[in-house]
Amino acid sequence: MRGYTVYSNNMDEITVDVRSLSKQYGNFKAVDDISFKVKKGEIFGLLGPNGAGKTTTIKLLTTLSAPTSGEAFVAGYSILNKQKEVKRNIGWVSAEIILDDDLNAWENLGLQAALQGITKWEESADALLKYFQLSEFKYKNVGKFSTGMRKKLEIAMALLNSPQVIFMDEPTIGLDVSTRKMLWDLILLIKNEYKVTVFLTTHYMEEADQLCDRIAIISHGKIIALGSPTELKEKAGGYAVSIEVKDGFDVSSLKNFHVLENNQNKILIEINSKDNMLDVLKAINLEKLNSINLITPGLDSVFLKLTGSTIKESEDAIDYRKFYSMVRRNSQ
Ligand SMILES: Nc1ncnc2c1ncn2[C@@H]1O[C@H](COP(=O)(O)OP(=O)(O)OP(=O)(O)O)[C@@H](O)[C@H]1O
Ligand SMILES: [Mg+2]
Repeated sequence: MRGYTVYSNNMDEITVDVRSLSKQYGNFKAVDDISFKVKKGEIFGLLGPNGAGKTTTIKLLTTLSAPTSGEAFVAGYSILNKQKEVKRNIGWVSAEIILDDDLNAWENLGLQAALQGITKWEESADALLKYFQLSEFKYKNVGKFSTGMRKKLEIAMALLNSPQVIFMDEPTIGLDVSTRKMLWDLILLIKNEYKVTVFLTTHYMEEADQLCDRIAIISHGKIIALGSPTELKEKAGGYAVSIEVKDGFDVSSLKNFHVLENNQNKILIEINSKDNMLDVLKAINLEKLNSINLITPGLDSVFLKLTGSTIKESEDAIDYRKFYSMVRRNSQ
């Protein structure tokens, strides 16, 4: 049509559309009336403590479990009556061990292809191994792989059917800091390289903060907050500016701000958002300023504000999966 322009913005396409989804076990609501939308190409994180309902949500969205009520569309297909189509368009990385340690990397990929009914898989499997720098380990038994290599292979397996969405249930649980960082980089890479939407769960606030474009915070089966990490942190407040000043600094220049602390030329000023740092700079005499620092709140302050406890406090003392995977790996 002349004179009529359609602007297409891929980021606005919805890949996962969750509508009033619930899952009940007996009288217990593991997932309680949750609704949210995941945009195409984003990394979306479901953040919550142990038992919050993260795995249950992933099981519903990957059609491994049926909801008690509500509906969801994944890659455009309903989880209620298009399970096959949903499965064909998603990849899944479970929190538990999914690799067969007695098989080599190539055989694990072949098994995955067979399970998903993919006939021509060899070419993309080779490309994925190359991409994840695992080609030289193609015929090595997975039992001898490091944790990082295992995770890479699991992700390669999940990408084998060129999914639109890849679901990862606590992808970095129990990993050491450097393997976790490697995996974050890898998740960012596959988002960009494979244009895949990533839906992950985590109980690590730092992970949600650093990796996710948007986060839904889940607690007792309910979504209690949703937004980008910055939006969530701004809502919770907790930004501050810390300044170090010279003798003779005029404190009254801060009269329009909430001064939290004023101690030996170190002053802590509460601000509503990052941008308000400039207002502080405008109000004070810069010649009397030695240094200035922005204090950014963490996502933990968001969780604390909403629930009254931190994510860590709400967690079980023992992370049984980490324990289980440790025992299993040590017994090999
Ligand atoms: N098959 C089941 N039968 C009964 N209760 C279940 C079942 N599966 C999960 N639950 C319960 O539902 C709640 C949510 O479990 P879910 O596994 O979804 O939590 P999670 O957020 O993934 O926790 P974690 O961080 O420990 O993995 C928990 O209280 C759990 O005990
Ligand atoms: Mg879980």
